[in-house]
Amino acid sequence: NRSFYFDDLDSTNAFMLKHAGELASGDICVAEYQSAGRGRRGRRWQSPYGSHLYCSMYWCFPQGMAQAMGLSLVVACSLATVLENNGVTEVGLKWPNDIYYQHKKLAGVLIEMSGQADSECNLVIGIGMNLAMPSQQAEHINQPWSDLSESGIDLDKTELVIALQKQLQLDIRLFEQQGLSAFMVRWQASDIFYGQPIQLILGDKVIKGLCRGIDSAGAVILENDEGIQTFVGGEISLRGM
Ligand code: ATP
Ligand code: BTN
Repeated sequence: NRSFYFDDLDSTNAFMLKHAGELASGDICVAEYQSAGRGRRGRRWQSPYGSHLYCSMYWCFPQGMAQAMGLSLVVACSLATVLENNGVTEVGLKWPNDIYYQHKKLAGVLIEMSGQADSECNLVIGIGMNLAMPSQQAEHINQPWSDLSESGIDLDKTELVIALQKQLQLDIRLFEQQGLSAFMVRWQASDIFYGQPIQLILGDKVIKGLCRGIDSAGAVILENDEGIQTFVGGEISLRGM
């Protein structure tokens, strides 16, 4: 596989999308700084220069989009596994794309598609993780956040990238063979809202209930007076209560 390293880039996801036609599954791009780091639904991902991790991996799913349903959960599990293998405890997962440390957002996953998904589906999997956040940058983040330095564990960034690339390749291959069912136990073990009261925000609609984890398609399961319902990602935000 190939790795592309940049000091300064608009966005590692944008770079990989631009070059998707020339890439092989498992290729990665890493940048030290992003001038236009992005999150879900056009939000910004604060990407100051220096010790943070901004990384994207390309992957082609030959059987199309349905084969990739729930991938963001697999990727979040991969990052949590790498952190735990390096001695970081108290890593939590928040459906569908966030990694928390001590109940504050440490990292996020953004998956974008290149072109149209007709037969095969070409995806760019972006991961941003805070390692040591400069305080002036943090002013722009409008929700509780954390960085890896809070754990007291200092990981070498190059080693972290290598470990993450390996773990992602292992996990995504397993996902291709067995689907999300291979990750259900892993997800549940670290799901910060499992069994907790939550609200799902869909535009101007809010649905409240208890979080009952995820199903084998990666949908979140919500239980309330109306019974049990499942919701798939996309436009939904999950919040605690
Ligand atoms: P949801 O997707 O469920 O609405 P979210 O609020 O985490 O959750 P995302 O689009 O996933 O939204 O992430 C973007 C948000 O993350 C930004 O609006 C900002 O609040 C926050 N954010 C931006 N940069 C960082 C960062 N470096 N570390 C932690 N959080 C960040
Ligand atoms: C989120 O929580 O909304 C996802 C944030 C994803 C940020 C990463 S940083 C590397 C890659 N390039 C981007 O522009 N975004 C992702």
